[in-house]
Amino acid sequence: MTIEATAEIPLYAKRGISLIRGEGMYLWDADGRRYLDAMSNYGVNILGHSHPAVDSAVETQLKRLISCHQSFYNDARASFEQALTERLPAALTRLSYANSGAESIEAAIKFARAATGKQRVIAATRGYHGRTIGALSVTSGDKHRLPFEPLLAGCEHVPYDDVDALSTVIRGAGAVLLEPIQGEAGVFVPAAEYLTAVRRLCNENGALLILDEVQTGMGRTGTFLASEQQGTIPDILCLSKGIANGLPMGVTVVSTEVAERIPAGSHGSTFAGNPLACAAGRATIESVTEDLLEGVRTNGSRFVQRLKQIEAPLIREVRGRGLMCAVELRTRVTPLLKSLQERGVLALPAGGRTIRLLPPLIAEWSHLETIADTLADALAELSQ
Ligand SMILES: Cc1ncc(COP(=O)(O)O)c(C=O)c1O
Repeated sequence: MTIEATAEIPLYAKRGISLIRGEGMYLWDADGRRYLDAMSNYGVNILGHSHPAVDSAVETQLKRLISCHQSFYNDARASFEQALTERLPAALTRLSYANSGAESIEAAIKFARAATGKQRVIAATRGYHGRTIGALSVTSGDKHRLPFEPLLAGCEHVPYDDVDALSTVIRGAGAVLLEPIQGEAGVFVPAAEYLTAVRRLCNENGALLILDEVQTGMGRTGTFLASEQQGTIPDILCLSKGIANGLPMGVTVVSTEVAERIPAGSHGSTFAGNPLACAAGRATIESVTEDLLEGVRTNGSRFVQRLKQIEAPLIREVRGRGLMCAVELRTRVTPLLKSLQERGVLALPAGGRTIRLLPPLIAEWSHLETIADTLADALAELSQ
């Protein structure tokens, strides 16, 4: 049974089932069929579904206050800010609220322009930053961009993981905007020294470094921020997706120097900083413990090894860091996604030929083993 929402503009290719309930690592459809979650709703439900700490924080806040404009102080917002800033590099002191990843990028572009007085932003080919006009301007790829051109002036793209290419264009730029690992593109992990070299180039050329950790942040790669693994501290950091385990939320965090140059009243949003999202956000951040991160690192590297052991001629490459993994195929990905779904595992595409696996960070080894075994079975059948 599918419960169709018939008024929607058909912007999404639908997957043919109605998901109506979730608990832990599992989701259920309207027919009562259970699915193992290997996608976390595109990287959002890092603590799985119906997580007790998040549910209880939301329930408590629901009965107190669900909406509070940012012209007022609010206790849920204050405790969210304390919980978040404690987990971030000390240089990142101030934040602005958003309701999505794209909005957090919009704010980052605006703040970089305000702080530097410069218009140019350099992003990377294959990069994905969202689909509002500003975020789309730094996103790469004709499919998303062409129907909406002309986009924001001053946005350029250079090949990812290519320091020389960046060094030839960075002079005069206000900011460089990158994902520490490219997610939507198919989980591309750059060379270990890439971010450090980008940081150095930014410093030498007076450009700000904006890191988009919308997908990589919140423990996805085994540390709270992926950029921690290179010891790189951005001037502006974007977080969203997993930050409130499913409630719509984004934040743009900036250094004190950047914050001081953002004019009062120059940015805002009615719903942003919503107390319900903040309560969920605090509970989520507190649940991303050192133990959980350790589990992501251990399970993640074991999972990638296990995926690499699958003997299937259709596999071109396996990539990953923590629980952000991809299996690139030699063929289109849709039949495999469909077969996995029929076998009770929900995974994601990345580009046309890659399966992306973003299971909740609470996954136990047995769940990951089931995902890998199901993938092996589905690939074996498709190869016949
Ligand atoms: C790295 C990155 N940045 C930004 C976005 C945009 O987030 P949203 O879809 O919440 O606007 C995404 C979404 O997939 C993303 O992966």
